Amino acid sequence: TTPESEGLWLFGYGSLIWKPPPHYDLRVPGYIEGYVRRFWQASEDHRGTPAAPGRVVTLIDRKHWETLTDHHALAPPRVWGAAYRIPPQHVAEVKNYLDIREINGYSIQYTPFTKASSAQSNGVSRKQIDCLVYIGLPDNPQFLGSQDPQALAEHIIRSRGPSGENKDYLYQLETALNELSPESGDKHITDLARRCREIEARMQAEGVNVEEV
Ligand code: BEZ
Repeated sequence: TTPESEGLWLFGYGSLIWKPPPHYDLRVPGYIEGYVRRFWQASEDHRGTPAAPGRVVTLIDRKHWETLTDHHALAPPRVWGAAYRIPPQHVAEVKNYLDIREINGYSIQYTPFTKASSAQSNGVSRKQIDCLVYIGLPDNPQFLGSQDPQALAEHIIRSRGPSGENKDYLYQLETALNELSPESGDKHITDLARRCREIEARMQAEGVNVEEV
């Protein structure tokens, strides 16, 4: 458990990895367990619009995951990301900011986070920290369920929203994960990014516009 005097720890497994929340005073690479990261959440507010939602990551609880038969790829035992410490005087403001930024279908859960063995202790000596995490649960309207990887890649190539191109979210996530730790790669992400790069290369070779994908 986390002493309240420390403020709030927040775990990012998507855009928070490369776009930190305001006011954090520590960023620690590491992982959580018991979930699987998938691009199975629709985004109407950041990487798409209500008329043409994009695709972003969510976490699927392993208990729900085990009931599915259409996984498309193996799920690693750990979800890598970054934990941020928010000092007590900024917790209310940061929660408010995240609600505005991320609320599109996500709910709050708390889960134990383990620091990467390479992470510096930075005055936080315990190995596990209780972290807040935003999860798009299967019963929220933006949750899409299992997605065929090639159709998903084609959808990502076509989508954009107020925060930018959907494919840039995917490419930035791939880069950010590779930078966290030598163990933090995620095959679901690298496979999708490879498919998107192939589609882009094909479009360029054929002189095709994104609207025609
Ligand atoms: C994340 O980066 O962890 C995240 C961001 C927005 C919604 C859910 C998760």
